[in-house]
Amino acid sequence: MEFSIKASAPEKLKTGALVVPVFSDGALGAQGLAIDAATAGQLSRLVARDLEEKSGTLLALPELPGVAAERVLVVSLGKRDEFADKAVRSALAAVGKWLAGSRATSAALCATDFVAGARDLPWTLRTAAQALFDATYQYEAPYGKKDGKSQSKRLAKVEMLLVGKSDNATKAALAQGAAIASGMALTRDLGNLPANYCTPTHLADTAKKLGKQYKLKVEVFDRAGIEKIGMGSFLSVSRGSHEAPRFIVLHYNGGKAKEAPVVLVGKGVTFDSGGISIKPGEGMDEMKYDMCGAASVLGTFKAISELALPINVIGLIPATENLPSGTATKPGDVVTSLSGQTIEVLNTDAEGRLILCDALTYAERFKPAAVIDIATLTGACIIALGHHPSGLFSNDDTFARELQDLGQDCGDRAWHMPLWDDYQEQLKSNFADMANIGGRPAGSVTAACFLSRFTGNYKWAHLDIAGTAWKSGAEKGATGRPVPLLTSYLIARAGR
Ligand code: BES
Ligand code: MN
Ligand code: ZN
Repeated sequence: MEFSIKASAPEKLKTGALVVPVFSDGALGAQGLAIDAATAGQLSRLVARDLEEKSGTLLALPELPGVAAERVLVVSLGKRDEFADKAVRSALAAVGKWLAGSRATSAALCATDFVAGARDLPWTLRTAAQALFDATYQYEAPYGKKDGKSQSKRLAKVEMLLVGKSDNATKAALAQGAAIASGMALTRDLGNLPANYCTPTHLADTAKKLGKQYKLKVEVFDRAGIEKIGMGSFLSVSRGSHEAPRFIVLHYNGGKAKEAPVVLVGKGVTFDSGGISIKPGEGMDEMKYDMCGAASVLGTFKAISELALPINVIGLIPATENLPSGTATKPGDVVTSLSGQTIEVLNTDAEGRLILCDALTYAERFKPAAVIDIATLTGACIIALGHHPSGLFSNDDTFARELQDLGQDCGDRAWHMPLWDDYQEQLKSNFADMANIGGRPAGSVTAACFLSRFTGNYKWAHLDIAGTAWKSGAEKGATGRPVPLLTSYLIARAGR
């Protein structure tokens, strides 16, 4: 999908769908008024008669006299005094969904009219690009899929109509929204791809492809290479599977050679059966999504590459399956991590932390400015926070605060959770330096505590995306989160 900015009269624009927002009091913005005048008041009459109040409800008006667009799509922003970020997002999501199901191949948004409340035009454009692209996402299978649905036409072109000229900040914001959206699409594709296609090798190949496309250095270690590094904890998870593990290292060098990089670490368990501590059968298919942290790292690399951000970023992805077999790690086994610390594996289903801990130790060699790991780490995080925010843990409260605020801005929220020393004692083991589980209380916190033992002395945040990386049920599918949050952080660091 291509986005552009245009400063033309909305009523004169030839497009598949001209999108106009309106508050529930029926009052139109400047662009809406121009369209209304061109239709001799028909737009406002139809809005007053037929449009419902709730934000996100739509009214599609084909072939309005005096308007060049094939259709005018009116969307409600709800009540003016209740107006907030959420109303814009739900309105745009509804528009995107409608457009995706329509035959329109192009659309134009009366963007200036969407600016309301506390947010400015750049925020509105970034949000609009992200929301529209996201709502029109379609999973494309590399295998046949007979779903019987008629192929709707693809929305290819979206114009953002402005009153007056746009400045650099406005243009940059639109580019950011589009880049974030295209990163999210990659993350969603990888997440949705079944585990028999999305193997560790496939993740590595995807990284290499990104490397070719954007001139990134990409290193890939195989089982022998991982062993040579000394990642005994990571390898203990791979032991049960015939599928080859991979350790993937991506280097994005947009900044000065000496500038300390941000390191992103993504959990890449391409299928989590639980191993010998096997999971119950129901819903186990969703454990193909256990590589969404890795996919979000790749999606973020795509986004920052498209934006050519002037910073240095390293991506680390430990990728493996977690399966039971005669060679699998057993409960009670003790493994030695890259850090030298020993771990008693009391539950082979707590495997995410076992692969991440070695990657976190590996991160130290880059002398990072900050490290963020992203992982579908614990079911307990869903119990604590549900599906709205990701869990956010950090050894630096200011850093946590910064990420939490950025998440609020970009609509990809995270919530700061405690990482107090008090929880550490739950990880005590009689037979090793630590156990890999901390019992039932505060499962997402003890998982983060486990990781904290491998973070050396760098600034670190951990995002538990178990509740946010994908949706279950009728809408089953990857969400592309937290690519918006990660990319927003890197954009902020780059001073854009
Ligand atoms: N990948 C799962 C976490 C998960 C479960 C994410 C359900 C999303 C939905 C992780 O590897 C896991 O199995 N964690 C265990 C940890 C426990 C054994 C301490 C869990 O959450 O049950
Ligand atoms: Mn598990
Ligand atoms: Zn897992």
